[in-house]
Amino acid sequence: MTNVIETDRLYLRQWQTSDFVIFAEMNADPEVMQYFPKLLSTTVSNTIAKKCQQLIEDNGWGFWAVSLKDSSKKRNNFIGFVGLNDTHANMSFAPAVEIAWRLRKECWGQGYATEAARAALQFAFTELALDDVVSFTAVINKRSQLVMERIGMTDSQDNFYHPALNADHRLAEHVLYKITRPQWQKAVALKPMRSFK
Ligand SMILES: CC(C)(COP(=O)(O)OP(=O)(O)OC[C@H]1O[C@@H](n2cnc3c(N)ncnc32)[C@H](O)[C@@H]1OP(=O)(O)O)[C@@H](O)C(=O)NCCC(=O)NCCS
Repeated sequence: MTNVIETDRLYLRQWQTSDFVIFAEMNADPEVMQYFPKLLSTTVSNTIAKKCQQLIEDNGWGFWAVSLKDSSKKRNNFIGFVGLNDTHANMSFAPAVEIAWRLRKECWGQGYATEAARAALQFAFTELALDDVVSFTAVINKRSQLVMERIGMTDSQDNFYHPALNADHRLAEHVLYKITRPQWQKAVALKPMRSFK
């Protein structure tokens, strides 16, 4: 297992305590959180960050903290998280490993989510030897679906209602995207990726 994943512009790495304050700002930003049921308090945000940290410590993978190699661009090089997680057991498609992302607003529109997600997928299929990876989000979260499509995932056309939300909630209906190993191999052949550090 590797400790740091390197891409052209990013590191996917273990969380540092100094990331937590920026993560809490992201989780309190209405634009970042527009497709989540509510904004998160600093306490809840810190709990999530610590859980991500612990899972990476325990397993060697998870929702990695993403940082810019060129730290001069931002006041802190932490820009959010991208990574892999065991899907909650109450999901109809569990057991499965999901890929997900959440970046600071000021870092959208630069291809960072896609770049990090490609590296996370490579980890999933090479280091973890998975057969497939899923991703899901609210039907109305088109920006996230575009990332899924950019990394070669396809819509399973199997929408579902998130078990944690009432069926009439604006975010309840979710899309389920998936990529299999052969699909990933084809996508990589079209766009080769860098190796791990
Ligand atoms: C979902 C999210 C990660 C997508 O971020 P993003 O920056 O739009 O996605 P990408 O990294 O793929 O960037 C693509 C954009 O960067 C642009 N771009 C600029 N430079 C680029 C480069 N060097 N390489 C690739 N794309 C580049 C692309 O043209 C595209 O622009 P567009 O949005 O105007 O079409 C972000 O919106 C987010 O954090 N949202 C909140 C959290 C969330 O909803 N998470 C998902 C919940 S399941």
